[in-house]
Amino acid sequence: MGRVMVIYVSIHHGNTERVAKVIAKVLGATLAKPSEVSVETLSEYDLMGFGSGVYYGRHHKSLLDLVDKLPDMRGKRAFIFSTSGLRRIPFIHDFSKQLRKKLEERGFEIIGEFSCRGFTTHWPFNLIGGINKGRSNEEDLKRAEAFAREMRNRFRRSRACRLWLVAMGSSM
Ligand SMILES: Cc1cc2nc3c(=O)[nH]c(=O)nc-3n(C[C@H](O)[C@H](O)[C@H](O)COP(=O)(O)O)c2cc1C
Repeated sequence: MGRVMVIYVSIHHGNTERVAKVIAKVLGATLAKPSEVSVETLSEYDLMGFGSGVYYGRHHKSLLDLVDKLPDMRGKRAFIFSTSGLRRIPFIHDFSKQLRKKLEERGFEIIGEFSCRGFTTHWPFNLIGGINKGRSNEEDLKRAEAFAREMRNRFRRSRACRLWLVAMGSSM
């Protein structure tokens, strides 16, 4: 498979970092934080994963800001991941919406999305000692591993399909 980069932010309890590491391992990806990424070199990668904890209903600002700075990424694939205190509720708590929109604006083809719960002691949950204790846990990381394998398969299929279309076009 081509070159893969996984970019993540994990500031609260390291919940997303565990997920990012598992995904990067399966995909043989370079793992980086937004501050470590140079926008110019990113176009050398064929598949990119973007993930963070959910903070005030969206991915971390530094991740969103990085995507804003990217050049035209048409022809590149991306996937999204997150950990959050609460689950996604369409229209009310749709925490991937902003990142998804920004990636699409840059021209990425989004091939999948992963989310699981993460331990949080953010207000008001600190009053009861936090929620989702121990998560992201073994089970979440197994799901993240399966997700990464699926991303690899989808990437290969989508690339094979594009190569076939190019070959068909040039033989006509
Ligand atoms: C400042 C702050 C804001 C948060 N806002 C939300 C939120 O809007 N929705 C949610 O489901 N969880 C929220 N959380 C919980 C985190 O998304 C959750 O704990 C996540 O797993 C943190 O990931 P991390 O440990 O990788 O930073 C918030 C946590 C913090 C610290």
